[in-house]
Amino acid sequence: MSVWNKHQVFEKNSLVLLVGILVMVAIGGLVEIVPLFYLKSTIEKVQGMRPYTPLELAGRNIYIREGCYLCHSQMIRPMRDELERYGHFSLAAESMYDHPFQWGSKRTGPDLARVGGKYSDEWHRDHLVDPRSVVPESIMPGYPFLLNATLGTRDIADHLKTNAIIGVPYTETMIENAAADLLAQANPDADGVDAFLERYPNAIVRDFDGNPQKVTEMDALVAYLQMLGTLVDFSIYDSKADLR
Ligand code: HEC
Repeated sequence: MSVWNKHQVFEKNSLVLLVGILVMVAIGGLVEIVPLFYLKSTIEKVQGMRPYTPLELAGRNIYIREGCYLCHSQMIRPMRDELERYGHFSLAAESMYDHPFQWGSKRTGPDLARVGGKYSDEWHRDHLVDPRSVVPESIMPGYPFLLNATLGTRDIADHLKTNAIIGVPYTETMIENAAADLLAQANPDADGVDAFLERYPNAIVRDFDGNPQKVTEMDALVAYLQMLGTLVDFSIYDSKADLR
């Protein structure tokens, strides 16, 4: 029997073949998995990423509560059609503070990972109240009640604290001032704005819902939508050019 004929042992005996397969798969698995235990982090650090402000976090909670993820993804894949339509593909670091992540797998509507800054606050308000008023062919449901719903601040500190437990770098002062920061971001004239901006340097302070009388759920949701995908300055990362 020449060396090459020895392979017959595997081909003629299913049990030996099975054991052979298991050995090969185990080696393949070890080669892929073992190095991960020696890495400090699998996420590359990226400049500009910061935790959500309390107002944005509240908006994100509303996004989850209303099931926006059932129709919208938040992950741009590294493929040419996606880059042309949505911009730079999503980086792992961009969702490092997302608990739970909102990548999604359903796109009844467009991807929202970089929707921040694409439209004005008014557009978002009109669109969320009655999508057909700005996009006549839209099948998105309206959420007009957000305009009147006063945003609760009672549990926002707990939301920050919970995120901190699972690794989001919220400091003690951020947690203590969560409710004040939430109100300050939606109210450019408030006293707390400077202190807020010190804690969250590149945050946007605006009256997002156009109603200075009160801070509503619309303020929170629009604040969240307007910051999506805006934290990382992609002019320093030129990988999009490599892909084209
Ligand atoms: C039943 C599916 C559905 C749900 C649920 C839904 N949307 Fe949409 N959304 C769409 C569709 C379809 C479009 C595209 C047409 C349009 O612009 O209205 C869209 C468009 C959008 C856009 C504009 C995106 C762009 O780049 O033009 C935003 C922003 C948006 N949705 C936010 C939300 C938010 C926030 C929620 C939850 C409060 C939500 N959507 C829930 C289907 C949905």
